Amino acid sequence: MVFRRYAGVFVVSSIVAVAAPAAAQSGTTGQQLASSKNCLACHQIDSKRVGPAFNVIAQRFVNQDGAADYLAATIRSGGRGRWGAVPMPAQPQVSPDEAQQLAAWILSLAADASSAD
Ligand code: HEC
Repeated sequence: MVFRRYAGVFVVSSIVAVAAPAAAQSGTTGQQLASSKNCLACHQIDSKRVGPAFNVIAQRFVNQDGAADYLAATIRSGGRGRWGAVPMPAQPQVSPDEAQQLAAWILSLAADASSAD
């Protein structure tokens, strides 16, 4: 029983470590944070909802200098006109640190689709 429980924790934490190393350190994954901050009400990871899919955003920005800082800022302040007609409202419930964590997580999603160059 004890062994089984530990084995489960090990599997989960190694997946997290591969998918989001920065997030794993603070104990919360980017996806959990996105969920708790309500991002997933408007965004999905791999398809468009109200806002663009996170992996499509990642692809647009992953090779740009300063992308993480830019995205962290835009997550908190919202934006309009960059993806379509619908604006993104500011997200004041997201702290600067959380915005950095979300930005890093979003950029990490580009790895899944990097062949679409
Ligand atoms: C009310 C719906 C809504 C919510 C809630 C929302 N977004 Fe958005 N988001 C949008 C829309 C719509 C856009 C496209 C805006 C545009 O065209 O410039 C967008 C754009 C973005 C972008 C791309 C910005 C750019 O400049 O290209 C990122 C990154 C992003 N959202 C992350 C987040 C995160 C992280 C959260 C949670 C803290 C979040 N969003 C919550 C609707 C939302």
